[in-house]
Amino acid sequence: NWTMNDFIDMQIEKIREQVGDKKVLLGLSGGVDSSVVGVLLHRAIGDQLVSIFVDHGLLRKGEVEQVMASLGGKFGLNIIQVDARERFLNKLAGVSDPEKKRKIIGNEFIQVFDEEATKLNGIDFLAQGTLYTDIIESGTSTATTIKSHHNVGGLPEDMQFSLIEPLKTLFKDEVRDLGEKLGMPHELVWRQPFPGPGLGIRVLGEVTEDKLKIVRDSDLILREEFALAGLDKTVWQYFTVLPGIRSVGVMGDGRTYDYTVGIRAVNSIDGMTADFSRIPWDILQKVSVRIVNEVDHVNRIVYDITSKPPSTVEWE
Ligand code: XMP
Repeated sequence: NWTMNDFIDMQIEKIREQVGDKKVLLGLSGGVDSSVVGVLLHRAIGDQLVSIFVDHGLLRKGEVEQVMASLGGKFGLNIIQVDARERFLNKLAGVSDPEKKRKIIGNEFIQVFDEEATKLNGIDFLAQGTLYTDIIESGTSTATTIKSHHNVGGLPEDMQFSLIEPLKTLFKDEVRDLGEKLGMPHELVWRQPFPGPGLGIRVLGEVTEDKLKIVRDSDLILREEFALAGLDKTVWQYFTVLPGIRSVGVMGDGRTYDYTVGIRAVNSIDGMTADFSRIPWDILQKVSVRIVNEVDHVNRIVYDITSKPPSTVEWE
């Protein structure tokens, strides 16, 4: 596609002209948009780009390692990885209201990002993965809009940045196209939607490390089996949730009293409405058997057969 290659050349030239010999800061989330911005900017200005990646402990299994290996390793981005896992867990302790959890995660994210940004000197620009659709939805000019999906924190009050938003004329499918043209790996470019609060809203109620582990491990099994069956290419979003209920089961000659894991798989265009996916029984069975066998403290699996509306995609 010649137009996307033209777009890359034009953006690189534009970025170089705008940045000169100054430095640019980017918040990486592990998502498609910020990753593509990172690779594009790195191609344009190399190590004048500094990225911050906050590990809040609420990402899926292997995601942090994957981002670091791919963007940090293969693409050579200079990434400051911040281990904030304990901080987030402490803030979330004892909190079970979904909206409160969202707020805490969002605020803490901005705070950690700002603290790290403040430690850096001589940064003039802040890069963001704002898309055309983000601008339409927010209805304001880009200069005053900070993407609210936790891709990037707010601006530190005592710091003045100019914004760089190279994707602001693109739609999501064009961003994916751009990512592929930049040589980015398929898993990153075709990553399914993932909420900013991450697994924090897939452990229902209070978030603890033990519960996060159950969601992380069961979610990995679901992703593996969907990939084997080719469903990762046809199902829009799929994940596991931990409702926090326990029920009676039997294993060997003993009675168990363990957690139920819910499986969610939906098809959608934009997340506003969604239809539950008709997953073949044999695949669901395989996932079910594997989760119960491989993940401790789980003895029952349920499949969510509600669409949106009346349900939402996430359980919180
Ligand atoms: P719901 O659950 O609202 O989800 O039907 C629709 C889509 O939005 C994602 N989602 C979020 N994304 N922050 C985000 O960045 C959030 O707080 C959030 N809540 C839901 C969800 O994963 C789905 O793709």
